[in-house]
Amino acid sequence: MNLPDLKEAKIRTKKEIKIIRDDYKVPHDMKTIGKNKKYYLKTYGCQMNVHDSENIKAILEDMSFSEAMEMEDADIILLNTCAIRENAHNKMFGFLGRVKHLKHSKPDVICGICGCMAQEESVVDDIKSKYRWVDIVFGTHNIHKLPEILKESIDNKKQEIEVYSIEGDVYEGIPIKRDSKYKAWVNIQYGCDKFCTYCIVPYTRGKQRSRMPVDIINEVKDLVNNGYKEVTLLGQNVNAYGKDLNINYTMSDLLEETAKTGIERIRFVTSHPWDFDDKMIDIIAKYDNIMPYIHLPLQSGSDRILKLMGRRYTKEKYLELFNKIKKNIPNCSITTDIIVAFPGETIEDFNDTLDVVNTCKFDSAFTFIYSPRIGTPAAKMKNDLTIEEKNDRLYKLNEVVNKYANEANQKYMGKIVKVLIEAPSEKSGKLMGYTDTMKLVNVEASEEYLGKIVDVEITDVKTWSLDGKLID
Ligand code: 5AD
Ligand code: SF4
Repeated sequence: MNLPDLKEAKIRTKKEIKIIRDDYKVPHDMKTIGKNKKYYLKTYGCQMNVHDSENIKAILEDMSFSEAMEMEDADIILLNTCAIRENAHNKMFGFLGRVKHLKHSKPDVICGICGCMAQEESVVDDIKSKYRWVDIVFGTHNIHKLPEILKESIDNKKQEIEVYSIEGDVYEGIPIKRDSKYKAWVNIQYGCDKFCTYCIVPYTRGKQRSRMPVDIINEVKDLVNNGYKEVTLLGQNVNAYGKDLNINYTMSDLLEETAKTGIERIRFVTSHPWDFDDKMIDIIAKYDNIMPYIHLPLQSGSDRILKLMGRRYTKEKYLELFNKIKKNIPNCSITTDIIVAFPGETIEDFNDTLDVVNTCKFDSAFTFIYSPRIGTPAAKMKNDLTIEEKNDRLYKLNEVVNKYANEANQKYMGKIVKVLIEAPSEKSGKLMGYTDTMKLVNVEASEEYLGKIVDVEITDVKTWSLDGKLID
């Protein structure tokens, strides 16, 4: 049993990161363990988790399991969890209640927990004491060990917990079953060293480890050869890409090399304003296949709160960067993340945030009430705000954010835009896709257009989506 340890997870040494390129193989005795059996994988949280789930699915299928659409049909149920806020915790424990219920009627069902919550000491302590019936727990650093962990649990018929708090290595060649045939997530970097004071990610995902450029570019080239139209380069703080490699190669170099592979669309998330340099702006502006869309988390518009958050920029610096991007990248859409009710946030601080939103008029924003995360510095800060005040600030912020999201969308009315048609839309019965600026468009079109980048005329505009018709 290997348990997570928050203190250990915080350590950052100069130890060289290992790149493990061993040919990934499921152990021989686990190859058919899932024959005639099904798995159900529930994914919470960010794109990083969605992408990890693509690896987990492929590993399970290498063990001969097939995917179940309903939890009730599964022989193994895995929850890939998120630790970013309290409500992500609550959702996962809520779901776990349903799994426990199922276990009463189907006692042989295996239940596993992985992802960021598995890296949290307090969560694993709870699972060990109150959720003894959970069969396996593994962390973000050892997804590749799933077959071995599963085997131990089956052989020993006891709870198997295997979570490393190590800084982490880089594993190449873990199998993958991608959710889409047209757009792909490509990890460029794991972990985060920024340690914003509210954030649990540097503890759950470990030290910043960039993949080598050659591995990333080869993956993108493979995707191009397999007909993929879009890649999203993924990392917690992509602008710091390469800084840990000591090879004098930065995010702008990577973007340029990716652009030269000829892939039709390139996106990247998430950017930290601190590492966003001028060269990057130039490269994004220079290449048509780097999409004019940037997610640029603000978090707060108050210098005092930004300092308490450990964000390393001021309101003025953020606005300077924002304006530089808007000036140099025509039509660039910019979205953001904002936290309200951080410990000690006064009404003046909150008004500073509103002020930035009113200045930037973001295309859209993800807004959150601050949620204390055990072990982070902010969790020890005093927070006197009442629930009503917190909700009130979120409500006011959302009103302003929605107004600008709607205004930004209105500008598309009657315009002709390029859309990568990617899937049937669950709600509208049409097909859906995104513009280069990341606007969701529902399009009346037949399925032959799936996977194609087409011209669409926008015929109706809503706050969170656009409707359009194909232009032949
Ligand atoms: N409370 C609320 N929001 C948080 N985020 C990260 N940590 C917390 C927290 N403890 C938000 C930030 C980040 C986004 C992914 O989640 O805005 O950019
Ligand atoms: Fe968390 Fe800050 Fe790292 Fe983003 S940059 S993952 S908010 S610590």
